[in-house]
Amino acid sequence: MNLIFLGAPGVGKGTQAKMLSYQLHWPHISTGDILREAVRRETPLGREAKRYMESGELVPDQLVIDIVKERLEESDTFKGFILDGFPRTVEQAEALEEFLSSKKRPLSAVLYFEASTEEIVVRLTGRRSCRSCGAIYHLVHQPPLNQERCDKCGGELYQRSDDQEETVRNRLKVYEVQTAPLISFYEKKGLLRKVKAEGSVEKVYSAVKNVLGLA
Ligand code: AP5
Repeated sequence: MNLIFLGAPGVGKGTQAKMLSYQLHWPHISTGDILREAVRRETPLGREAKRYMESGELVPDQLVIDIVKERLEESDTFKGFILDGFPRTVEQAEALEEFLSSKKRPLSAVLYFEASTEEIVVRLTGRRSCRSCGAIYHLVHQPPLNQERCDKCGGELYQRSDDQEETVRNRLKVYEVQTAPLISFYEKKGLLRKVKAEGSVEKVYSAVKNVLGLA
């Protein structure tokens, strides 16, 4: 299946995408992860993206579109993929549609994760991520055994710089203006599937599998 996970920052897209990818062996393609890695390695892309990411703004469309197209040319995506955090603007969605239709690889569904703003702020401010393997934790909801080390690989846990309260607020505003229009964009195409993203990680995962007919 060719899937998009859509929803506000911090709603739990990455957590669910990692679980589904692990179970079904479809690659999880997170533009946020790709960009953070480029920033960490100080590549030209990373240097360009950094200033946008730190303020919670979107990186210019063309940069992100090129990254995703290149990734979708890799053979591990031919049997299916999960796009997380892309597309984020109508321009990105149209570019993706054009690319996939030229390859005769249409989208199967767009999962739209819904949760209240209060829940999202709690999730983002308590998030910790592993610098080595990218595992995602929450200090209260999904606590690591040791607050500084990843349970899975022992890597260092850190708080993303864009999870500071002021940047979180800007990310939510940017989402409402630039990304939320994609809900009706995909609804009109008959691809949107709503997932209630409140409740435990396991409960949300069951909802994801139900929506995809995998339960
Ligand atoms: P990106 O990394 O994509 O961030 P985001 O969309 O803001 O999403 P998050 O990663 O913050 O949240 P998530 O929904 O994946 O939640 P998670 O599973 O981690 O983008 C970062 C930046 O990169 C952007 O601001 C932009 O600058 C740039 N960028 C990226 N893509 C771009 C694009 N296409 N175009 C332009 N710019 C782009 O969960 C959050 C927390 O909640 C965790 O602590 C988790 O443990 C916890 N949690 C998850 N599920 C549950 C649950 N059910 N119950 C309790 N806690 C839960």
